[in-house]
Amino acid sequence: MLPKNFNSSTRILTTVNQSIEQIEKDVCLHLEKASDVAEVQDLRVLYLGRKGLITQALKGISQLPKAERPAAGKKANQIRTAVEHAIQTALKRIESQAAEEGALDVSLPGRHAAYGSLHPVSQIQKRVCDIFVRLGFDIAEGPEVESDYYNFEALNFPKNHPARDMQDTFFVSDDIVLRTHTSPLQIRTMEKTTPPVRIVMPGKVFRCDSDLTHTPMFHQVEGLLVDTDISFGDLKGILTTFVHQMFDSKTRLRFRPSFFPFTEPSAEVDILCVMCRGSGCRVCSQTGWIEILGSGMVHPALYENVGYPPGKYTGFAFGMGVERIAMLKYGIDDIRKFFENDIRFIQQF
Ligand code: PHE
Repeated sequence: MLPKNFNSSTRILTTVNQSIEQIEKDVCLHLEKASDVAEVQDLRVLYLGRKGLITQALKGISQLPKAERPAAGKKANQIRTAVEHAIQTALKRIESQAAEEGALDVSLPGRHAAYGSLHPVSQIQKRVCDIFVRLGFDIAEGPEVESDYYNFEALNFPKNHPARDMQDTFFVSDDIVLRTHTSPLQIRTMEKTTPPVRIVMPGKVFRCDSDLTHTPMFHQVEGLLVDTDISFGDLKGILTTFVHQMFDSKTRLRFRPSFFPFTEPSAEVDILCVMCRGSGCRVCSQTGWIEILGSGMVHPALYENVGYPPGKYTGFAFGMGVERIAMLKYGIDDIRKFFENDIRFIQQF
């Protein structure tokens, strides 16, 4: 005789086996078709979750006779592992499909890194310096925070000169300023060099001023040439060569008498207005000429201040605003555009 419980236990075992085997087939089929990660996660919950189909089916094992439970349990665990494995396989497949589709999408625009370039002010500053380097000048730099002595005193500015006024100068303390021009470098250079001195000095300068043509910080290039027998003719020759190389060889220029405490005689250099070619317009205030730099023969007081023997040397100095030259070269009417960092503006140069 068969044991009393044979039928029922065999039936339960068969049911458990059949149902979880069927479930395994189903889930594998679903997983093969799953097209995204979310779908796979849903299937995981549906089958392996606490109330999932496999979990439910496994509960049937507890109703089996003791002796049969281990085999059924083992089988159940194998299926669970198989389903876990199928889930991982499906996830990997979906991931690589996505990558492959991305790589093959030839309709997408390419992504390239933007190229960096020199700021227009840096470009012009470099061109100015290059011209003088070809004429035999060296390049030097100096501090932006400067003492009253170098910025004014040694340059022969009298104590109550208006340039020392709060209106123009940023004071750090009573006798420390943000340099208002690059001319302090004339003194610093001469202090440590015995002539001949041939040097250009680019750098940032600061003035308390802000409108269409002025920013509180701008750039200058200072020049200094000191030797024996240097004349105003040399100044004119060098600066004419510079203007012709910077703009074009037909650019007309003029030397207009002017005043600076540290040069004597002094002259400002004007070029014929690049906008109206001399007929008069808004840019040149109807004069037909545009000022581009200040210059002059080095004042003897400076030689005295740096300890050069009296009467031995002569020389000239000049200083120009880099933004101003860039504005004239590129036809820009608002200096503030240089400092707004609008990439659409900067990239045009
Ligand atoms: N430092 C003067 C300025 O900033 C320019 C200048 C330099 C003039 C050298 C003469 C000689 O306006």
